[in-house]
Amino acid sequence: MICPSILSYDFTLLKDIFVKLENAGIEVVHFDVMDNHFVPNLTFGYKFIDDLRKYTSKIIFDTHLMIDKPEDNIILYSNSSDIVTVHFEAIKDRKKLIKEVEKLKNKGKKFGISIKPKTKPKKIKEYIDIVDLVLIMSVEPGFGGQELIPYCLDKVEEVKLLRGNRNIIIQMDGGINKNNFYDVYKRGVEWFVIGSAFFKEDDFSFYNRLLKDIKNGKYI
Ligand code: DX5
Ligand code: ZN
Repeated sequence: MICPSILSYDFTLLKDIFVKLENAGIEVVHFDVMDNHFVPNLTFGYKFIDDLRKYTSKIIFDTHLMIDKPEDNIILYSNSSDIVTVHFEAIKDRKKLIKEVEKLKNKGKKFGISIKPKTKPKKIKEYIDIVDLVLIMSVEPGFGGQELIPYCLDKVEEVKLLRGNRNIIIQMDGGINKNNFYDVYKRGVEWFVIGSAFFKEDDFSFYNRLLKDIKNGKYI
C-alpha cells in the first residue's frame, strides 16, 4: 500500500486532494502530527484531521503521532483516524497507554507503534500482542525530504520475526523514493509512506503503478 504523507503538500489545498488521490487508486493517506517537543517541528492537531475527514469517507486516515506522552490524547485522534501510531520512545505511562488503546480498539480503530532509527525492534516486544502496525522510521522523525538511512532496512527482518504469524502491517517512513523503492519492497515493507517523492510526480498513480509492476515481476 502506498501512503502519501501530506506533510509535503500545500496544506491550504488539502481539501481537494482526496478526490485526486482516490482517482489515482490511493487508499491510505498519512498524517504527521508533530508537537515541537518530541520532534523539533510543529504541524497540526486532531481538529485539522477531523475537518479534513469531511472530504473523503473512502480513504484510510493513517495518523503518525510524533508527540510526547501520546497516552494522554491518543483517543482524540481516533475520531477521524482509522489507524493511530505512537512513538515507542514517547510513551511515559505504559499502563495508561494500554487502557487507551483498548478504548481505541473498541471504536474499531487500529493501533500502531513506531520506532526511531536508533531504537531496536525488540524494544516493542511488550506491545506486540496489541499492535496492528509497526512503523519503522527510516529517517529521524521531524522533517520530510531527508535521505533514507540504509541500516533501518535491516530492522524489517527483525520485525518480521517479532510478529510471527500475527496480523501486523510493516510500514516504513522517510526518504523513500523511486530509486530505493525496490530495495525497500524486497526487504518486506508492506506499507510505504512517501512524502516529498510522491508529490514530485505529476501523476499520483506513479508509485501504485511501480508497486504493481514489481509485484508482476517486471523488475526481477
Ligand atoms: C517525517 C515524517 C514523514 C515525512 C516523510 O518525520 O514522519 O512522514 O513526511 O517524508 P519524505 O518521504 O519526504 O521523507
Ligand atoms: Zn510519518
